Amino acid sequence: MKKVLAIIGARPQFIKHFPLELAAKNKVDLLTLHTGQHYDENMSNVFFNQLGMSEPNFQLNIGSGTHGVQTAKMIIEIESVCLREKPDGMLVYGDTNSTLAGAIVSSKLHIPLFHVEAGLRSYNKSMPEEVNRIMTDHVSSLLFIPSEVSKSNLLKEGIESGVHMVGDIMKDIVQYVSINNLGQNPEVEAPYIYATLHRPYNVDIKERLKSILTELNLLPEKVIFSRHPRTKNKMETLQLNDEDYPNIVFIEPQGYLENMGYLMNCSRLITDSGGMQKEAYWLKKQCITIRSETEWVETLEQDANTLVFDDLSTIKDLFKLSPTWSNSLYGDGNASEQIINTINDYLS
Ligand code: UD1
Ligand code: UDP
Repeated sequence: MKKVLAIIGARPQFIKHFPLELAAKNKVDLLTLHTGQHYDENMSNVFFNQLGMSEPNFQLNIGSGTHGVQTAKMIIEIESVCLREKPDGMLVYGDTNSTLAGAIVSSKLHIPLFHVEAGLRSYNKSMPEEVNRIMTDHVSSLLFIPSEVSKSNLLKEGIESGVHMVGDIMKDIVQYVSINNLGQNPEVEAPYIYATLHRPYNVDIKERLKSILTELNLLPEKVIFSRHPRTKNKMETLQLNDEDYPNIVFIEPQGYLENMGYLMNCSRLITDSGGMQKEAYWLKKQCITIRSETEWVETLEQDANTLVFDDLSTIKDLFKLSPTWSNSLYGDGNASEQIINTINDYLS
């Protein structure tokens, strides 16, 4: 079996890795390296324990830092693991600093790179993720894309070879949870709106964060807010107090199955998360995305997802919409199997 090193480090990557680990059994010798970008119990361990995933083979424990320091430390450590282990290929997910660090090491050591969730673009280069994903795509040998739009995004940048449309790997796990009825019932009475926010442009600046919280506090239904540690830390340092927003119930970051439960039982989602825009779509929940653009443009069709950025007071007007959803968005939920088979073909 060929040896592939998967780089993971942030919450959504642990989740994306779960179906891939299942699909790789007896087909690929899949080793996992956890950079330590996310490290709190409920941002990291909970996912491995809850989903029954293998412990990572390599734990770098890099932790938080400025982008330069964090990414540089990851590069040094990932390179040293690669020099020792000599993997036949490297696999990275999405667009975080852990993704970029893996991509840089693989390109310097001439290890073929496989990018899951390739071809996404927000066309907003002030987002660190946009730079990370462009750079990663440009050094990848295999690019696993979810849609026609991602294919044309890559074509515009001259990337044509190695592109495989497999759908979205997060659909694999959402279907797995739905079919096996694994979503945990939330400890809160419906109706409620579910919310998550963690993008720097929404949570790092006091006036912006305050105006979003003020608007959520005015909504006609209570808001259950799963608070990312970045957002919690910012509220503390910016002196924004939970008690000033009585319509918002702040909860700790949830395990995946609890989060699914909150999403399955909510009336609608308000978020700036990439992954949760898709999850809301597949679970047929209206999504309101607090961003000026999205990479997941297909979710905007039929009012399933709506962008709101400057005029936050319009959020409540969107409750009147009657969205509809297509069952086939981003594939059939078998991306992981297609990814593993394509990697095997490539390496043999
Ligand atoms: C990162 C990714 C983002 C992704 C998000 C998923 C980059 C540039 N950003 O953003 O694309 O959407 O993860 O959640 O890679 N912190 C803790 N405990 C933790 C992790 C973080 O307290 O376990 C706090 C620290 O104060 C840290 C801050 O959160 O400085 C931000 O963490 P970081 O990983 O740098 O960025 P995210 O905002 O989580
Ligand atoms: N998620 C979770 N618990 C939470 C909030 C989110 O398990 O309290 C999951 C969510 O279901 C999705 C992923 O985390 O699969 C999304 O991660 P996040 O929003 O942190 O990052 P993004 O997708 O924006 O990169």
